[in-house]
Amino acid sequence: MLLLALETSCDETAASVVSHEAARRARVVSSVVASQYELHAEYAGVVPEIASRAHVEAILPTVREALSEAGVGLGMIDGVAVGNRPGLIGSLLVGVAAAKSLAWSLRKPLIGVDHVLAHLYSGLLEDEASGDQVGPSAGEIFPALGLVVSGGHTAMYQLSSWTDVTRVGSTIDDAMGEAYDKVATILGLPHPGGPNLDRLASGAGADEKAFDLPISRLSTTSLDFSFSGLKTAVLYAVRGVPVEGEYPAGKAVLSAGEKANLAASFQRAACRAITIKLERALVQGRDRGVAYRSLLTGGGVTANSRLRRDLTAFAEQHKLRAYLPPMRYCMDNAAMIGGLGGELLRAGASSDMALQAVPTASR
Ligand code: KG4
Ligand code: ZN
Repeated sequence: MLLLALETSCDETAASVVSHEAARRARVVSSVVASQYELHAEYAGVVPEIASRAHVEAILPTVREALSEAGVGLGMIDGVAVGNRPGLIGSLLVGVAAAKSLAWSLRKPLIGVDHVLAHLYSGLLEDEASGDQVGPSAGEIFPALGLVVSGGHTAMYQLSSWTDVTRVGSTIDDAMGEAYDKVATILGLPHPGGPNLDRLASGAGADEKAFDLPISRLSTTSLDFSFSGLKTAVLYAVRGVPVEGEYPAGKAVLSAGEKANLAASFQRAACRAITIKLERALVQGRDRGVAYRSLLTGGGVTANSRLRRDLTAFAEQHKLRAYLPPMRYCMDNAAMIGGLGGELLRAGASSDMALQAVPTASR
């Protein structure tokens, strides 16, 4: 089965051709991402109206490029998958309208895919060049513990199958990537904040114990996340603790070494908060009779060097198969939409022309 997949939920217009064959891993035949980064840079954030207009211009050229890279014509496509939620409504509408038109004109199935859940699939994708790889069976993956950490989402899931997914926890304030980006701004690092902070924190000599920053636990049983207290602690470490709303005058500017130490201390606290909650989810799952077999992860922050090490170590310690996305599929892409879309179609799910673009997540 060859799927054409579209993704337009935020500021990347993406198209991909993904091949699903029995017992094999889903293979990415092509994956094209047209970033709108430069259009939004001067506003220091994504402007929804600019994003949707740019999607309108980019969607068909991006689809054409994905088909041409894959060396397939539209006639060879067996179905069309589209990220239809969550996201910016104007952006989602462009992808959904394009996917409906393509599926209708080709008389092929259409499948709407939840963007956040698709991130969980990104660690199972395989590139065309990597040859014949037998994929893990459903019994080797499920029940799975899922973690999505991106600029807009931070949540954990219990997956019994690709169609039976329950959210077990999520952030009560900032997403992890948002905290990285804001802390990067506090430290005066250039855009993109997350990767630059990762680099500074990972530099030789950066001492992750130099600053005693709070590791958010919330209550003793909570599976939710919180990053805003940690972000504020970094702000106070840089500018001093305000008294009656005023930052103290004469606070010394941090040296380059102190900045690197602060970045490393932040990274340690942020990543530790994630593994603490994963551990709790494992224990609470066990108490409910759920023996997780794998850890599915995705989202932009899974590109973080420290988090990748911590997640790998966590999975080894708890004898879980770890599926970390290759670096190119950590950030938003359409290959993950085609990956999960294929599993949903195989499970008998499909959408029709009534498919809606929805700003909120399905779980
Ligand atoms: O998944 P994504 O492309 O967008 C959303 O769906 O939100 O994730 C983007 C986020 C940004 O906040 C970015 O700073 C963060 O992922 N990010 C990182 C790293 N690479 C990207 N955060 C920490 N370390 C990194 N290496
Ligand atoms: Zn995303």
